[in-house]
Amino acid sequence: MSGNALHEHDSTRPTAYRAIPEKSSLEAYNFADLRRQARKILPKGLFEFVDRGTENELALRTLRAALDRVMFRPHVFVDVSARTTSTEFFGKPSTMPLAVAPTGAAGLLWFDGEIEVARAAHNIGVPFILSTASIVSMERVAAEAGGRLWFQLYMWSDRNLSMELVDRAKAAGYEALIVTADTPVSPNREYNKHNGFSLPMRISSRNVMDIALHPRWFFNVLARYLMRSGVPALENYPASMRVRLDEPQTPFKCDSLNWDDLRQLRKKWSGPLIVKGILRADDALRAHECGADAIVVSNHGGRNLDASVPPFTVLPEIVDTLGKRMDVWVDGGMNRGSDVVKAIAMGAKGALVGRGPLWGVACDGEPGARLALQIYKDEMGRVMAYVGASSVAALDRDLLYLA
Ligand SMILES: Cc1cc2nc3c(=O)[nH]c(=O)nc-3n(C[C@H](O)[C@H](O)[C@H](O)COP(=O)(O)O)c2cc1C
Repeated sequence: MSGNALHEHDSTRPTAYRAIPEKSSLEAYNFADLRRQARKILPKGLFEFVDRGTENELALRTLRAALDRVMFRPHVFVDVSARTTSTEFFGKPSTMPLAVAPTGAAGLLWFDGEIEVARAAHNIGVPFILSTASIVSMERVAAEAGGRLWFQLYMWSDRNLSMELVDRAKAAGYEALIVTADTPVSPNREYNKHNGFSLPMRISSRNVMDIALHPRWFFNVLARYLMRSGVPALENYPASMRVRLDEPQTPFKCDSLNWDDLRQLRKKWSGPLIVKGILRADDALRAHECGADAIVVSNHGGRNLDASVPPFTVLPEIVDTLGKRMDVWVDGGMNRGSDVVKAIAMGAKGALVGRGPLWGVACDGEPGARLALQIYKDEMGRVMAYVGASSVAALDRDLLYLA
């Protein structure tokens, strides 16, 4: 089976990874189908690590509530027969106004999963953002997936270690750098502790039983790592910090991160620089003053500060404050193409999606992640037809109604 139709953006695709992608045989028609199937395959600890939020999960619930409050006021009798979801980011084309969010989890859900999701993004024609905390190294992703690759940076207290990563990302050809600003300390995710899912990973009767009940994941993912090179490590970490997931880790903490660090990054990184995790217009302006090219309005998918405002609620005020000064992206809870259309109509340049492609890769590797992205694209195209918009540029706030 070939998926040639997906190569519509071949002319713009960089080199590397030229395989004709296999079509997924999954019976999944939306995000919820993929999530449901992933839930069956994954050990509970891993499923919840991806799915859940933090503390009382207020942020997670309000993400969706904020999106659901926004409805469309569609135009009718518009010829939308030539509609397209395509757009551009930093002067280069993208199949739709969406990029794959950094998650660092794909390699736990599928063997070398980061490569699979990056290939899916490449095949669909959208950027893939690799997390600092991923299992597969940025060099391997660049060599084996190709496409538009952006690197997400977590800063450590020892800034030199982070700058090492910036040098590596540059050498490996990453196009953009995204620094995450919303994680000064490790989040309080109690369910991980209940599930025995924490770093360093420990063997307990609970997680052994959890894995035993999910043999497909064990044989497809964990056993393959163990047979190749043992328990995996976070391969982007600098050599001095790179330990296997079952060995004691350096606790994550960067509570001294400040605007001067952003200025330093700006001096060091000549490509597009994006700040992820902004929820206030004044911080957005400061990011601009420090030289950022774009921001992502985000509360980390509801995973960090539980009582944080939903990004979608503050998006309009941030867009209005910044005007045309820089691109504003948004993420969190976007499970449907209609959510992305709402975000763009609200003034965002693009949306990041995290969990959707993760459920896809957990179910079926690259074809599964590609299916997740294709679903977003199909849903977007359909919604654009319904609201009477032939292009991304035709999406504006006039189409929206706040319920
Ligand atoms: C399992 C998981 C791991 C994540 N890891 C990171 C990370 O390493 N760096 C980061 O900036 N954001 C991380 N995020 C947040 C995502 O980049 C993004 O903000 C969020 O997932 C968007 O919400 P969505 O999953 O509802 O689309 C992670 C999210 C998930 C679900």
